[in-house]
Amino acid sequence: MSARHRVFVTRELPGDGFAALRDDPEFDLEVWPEDVPPSREALLQGVSGVDGLVCLITDTVDEVVLDAAGAQLRVVSQMAVGVDNVDVAACSKRGIPVGNTPGVLTETTADMAWALILASARRVVEAAEYVKDGEWKTWTPTQMAGIDVHGATLGVIGFGAIGQAIARRAQGFGMRVLCWNRTQRTAEAAAVGAEQRPFDEVLSRSDFVSVSVALTDDTRGLMDATAFEQMHPGSILINTARGPIVDEEALVDALKRGHLGGAGLDVTAVEPLSMDSPLLTMDNVVVLPHIGSASMATRSKMADIAVANLRAGLAGRPLPHSVAVAVGR
Ligand code: DGY
Repeated sequence: MSARHRVFVTRELPGDGFAALRDDPEFDLEVWPEDVPPSREALLQGVSGVDGLVCLITDTVDEVVLDAAGAQLRVVSQMAVGVDNVDVAACSKRGIPVGNTPGVLTETTADMAWALILASARRVVEAAEYVKDGEWKTWTPTQMAGIDVHGATLGVIGFGAIGQAIARRAQGFGMRVLCWNRTQRTAEAAAVGAEQRPFDEVLSRSDFVSVSVALTDDTRGLMDATAFEQMHPGSILINTARGPIVDEEALVDALKRGHLGGAGLDVTAVEPLSMDSPLLTMDNVVVLPHIGSASMATRSKMADIAVANLRAGLAGRPLPHSVAVAVGR
């Protein structure tokens, strides 16, 4: 029998694929047992001498990690669609394919964008806390009054699969949908009743601006002070993509000045968000702990794909899903 494949997995994973991998005699798995990610030191130690690495968005996989792993490393398999934590170029240079998990999380993430749209517009979290805090004394004409979602304009920044799924849902709310994308997506936009427009126009005409671009050098800080100034007064920012796409200081400023009406953020520039963040003191901001794809079914499918990518890479076959460079979500 040939040597067993040594693999480091940076967290316990759900799903049947991972359970089967654990039982597979051809694999020698080391699984990081804690919920918090391995420290840098533990990661460097864990990858030493492995043939395969299964990682999450919380693990920085750079040249140092690749060096620590060694020349026998044959595949990096990330359980996420976004791979901004992985130095894909460095992997490619070494001939190491990088797997990701697109497709299966599209609808689940779009659902979450909508949870944030509705929660922010109708003050759902704030109102639920109001009840829990015993503040609910009566009914008044303007108590917890928010803004309407139906009939409003939704701007989608980034019109890949997730952006399109977010836009499709807007039809049920009778919304006008504008979208911006780096490349032409006219047909995709038309298919979901949206209209592709320039970035500035999407910002200035939308009541809700939902971000769904991948994090790259080009999109880091895309939503900055200038962008917030272009958004019209009272409009709401939604981000289910990556925190660093938004300049958080500029966002806080726009919210404090009352220029923006609120924000629904599934992601933050630094995760977890510091308890000192001014965002946590604002009633019109909903912050979630990066759970856009977190349904059990979807997370299990993502893990299954990550395992399939790992197996393919170790067998020297093309990965079912891989990224050559960090592009579109
Ligand atoms: C991803 O897949 O990139 C999400 O952020 C985590 O599901």
